[in-house]
Amino acid sequence: MAKYNIAVMKGDGIGPEIVDEALKVLDAVGEKFGHEFVYNEVLIGGAAIDATGECLPRATVDACMASDSVILGAVGGPKWDSQPPANRPEKALLGIRKALGLFANLRPATLYAPLADACPLKPERIKDGLDLVVVRELTGDVYFGEKHRDEDGTGHDDMNYSVAEVERIAHRAFQMARQRRNHVTSVDKANVLETSRVWRETVERIAAEYPDVTVDYMYVDNASMQLVTNPGQFDVILTGNLFGDILSDEASCITGSIGMLPSASLGETSRGMYEPIHGSAPDIAGQNVANPIATILSVAMMLRYSFDLATEADAIETAVNSVLEAGHRTGDIAKPGEKRVTCSDMGTLIAQAI
Ligand code: NAD
Ligand code: IPM
Ligand code: MN
Repeated sequence: MAKYNIAVMKGDGIGPEIVDEALKVLDAVGEKFGHEFVYNEVLIGGAAIDATGECLPRATVDACMASDSVILGAVGGPKWDSQPPANRPEKALLGIRKALGLFANLRPATLYAPLADACPLKPERIKDGLDLVVVRELTGDVYFGEKHRDEDGTGHDDMNYSVAEVERIAHRAFQMARQRRNHVTSVDKANVLETSRVWRETVERIAAEYPDVTVDYMYVDNASMQLVTNPGQFDVILTGNLFGDILSDEASCITGSIGMLPSASLGETSRGMYEPIHGSAPDIAGQNVANPIATILSVAMMLRYSFDLATEADAIETAVNSVLEAGHRTGDIAKPGEKRVTCSDMGTLIAQAI
């Protein structure tokens, strides 16, 4: 029996609720396919601040480094918004991504057929469905540049991208395109930003190594518009940290809800961190109403990318589809007046469908 050691960071808000459902589904996969998943629960974010005073304790980083992969719920919430910037829950998330070298964040946006009517776009705009992946650079950009405030109160966030940082994420995007529909759209703001000019020149150079992949370039403002007017044109969207953050939330709503969008944060090794793209949703935390599917699908990505268990990953995605097909909906994807299932019921239904 293969054994996998997984560091689990439930985090804040709805984090514990959604991660519990993902582990329920993972246990069902383990039982059916004969794998042992061992969980090592560690603290991050607000939960870690409350318990230890630190948003990212050294023990958490060590446990992640010692694991085969990492699952994260979400961090943050109003309780910790007044923490000093260096000890905010969000800082812990950036810190663990950096510590683990997770520079490539894959955010696949797929419209599950049973959710077509949860999509806010007119049917003709998604007649070909939606199947794109945002390849978001995750450890650079304005997120990690120097920050400071002048005496007069002016704030600074340095935005920078090195050529090497762009090269490695561009390779990931082109490799991803080869497993999909051979099309990369690189999104930047090269008409204004120097970082984006470096980005575009570098992507153009790397693209020459992938002559079988079509590449086009789009400014981010246009891309955000095209995403809701003609989403079917996109296959792989390659973009920086900030633009990728924003565009992936936009893409998620086309799939019915942000509660549907998983992600894989990958580096050079097989150890990845698997996290829904949404946050800790303080407005619905503790009510057992959150949609756990983004986290459940993130676990499917873990099986595929960290453990090379494609059949098991497919089993989760098929189970999600069948539960949606049967009409089960959490509040975020339900029609007004439609019956809703709880977060834990959704997890149980998907686990039973494995
Ligand atoms: P959010 O993603 O937490 O919530 C935005 C809206 O989407 C809310 O109305 C929420 O109820 C809803 N929503 C999100 N996930 C849902 C789910 N699974 N099911 C149903 N509805 C869902 O974004 P926000 O409100 O801007 O941020 C809240 C906190 O989360 C902040 O502290 C923010 O910094 C943090 N955050 C953390 C992460 C992360 O840990 N990866 C990501 C984004 C935001
Ligand atoms: C996400 C979140 C994070 C980000 C925040 C909480 C640091 O929005 O994972 O999308 O911007 O990367
Ligand atoms: Mn985000």
